[in-house]
Amino acid sequence: MSKVFLCDHPLIQHKLTYIRDERTNTKDFRELVDEVATLMAYEITRDVPLEKTTVKTPVAVAEAKIISGRMLGLIPILRAGLGMVDGILKLLPAAKVGHIGLYRDPDTLQPVEYYAKLPTDVLERELIVIDPMLATGGSAIAAIQMLKNRGCKQIKLMCLIAAPEGVKAMQEAHPDVDIYTASIDDYLNDHGYIIPGLGDAGDRLFGTK
Ligand code: URA
Repeated sequence: MSKVFLCDHPLIQHKLTYIRDERTNTKDFRELVDEVATLMAYEITRDVPLEKTTVKTPVAVAEAKIISGRMLGLIPILRAGLGMVDGILKLLPAAKVGHIGLYRDPDTLQPVEYYAKLPTDVLERELIVIDPMLATGGSAIAAIQMLKNRGCKQIKLMCLIAAPEGVKAMQEAHPDVDIYTASIDDYLNDHGYIIPGLGDAGDRLFGTK
């Protein structure tokens, strides 16, 4: 069973409160999501392995550590996932970014891929799939399945807010994918919104409502 990491650092929780607030305008919403994504990048890289090195300071040679060359890929699910990419890249500038677009088939209600552009060396990278709102989990589950079908193995999921229903569905579908979230909210309503949530993340990021 995968692990769920609740990113409960006070700075993240403080900013999440303003992200949720319906009075927060598009500009502030976008900036806050960006900041939280940077802080969450700090949490999601906590297990990155280090290797020993030495460095010459002005006065001596120090035993030191560096990250041991792990290559990362960020995979935002369009469109709300885009809102977290720049914030993560601030801490992980060498990461490459792939994009996945999915729509829900009106007849089957299943997610269908309409766009996928991945780094050419995606199979060598540890991937962070970004879906700010883990609601039913349908899109994130399908996106991760698509990556696995292409041969990707090391995958983590980053979201801002998760519904318990989405966490359960994700853990059942992908028990090897750890979930990083700033909150697990109460439930999913009949319209597919996370309660209390923050509304539609895409609309609030891009001012389309
Ligand atoms: N997607 C959103 O943007 N908000 C929700 O509450 C659920 C899914």
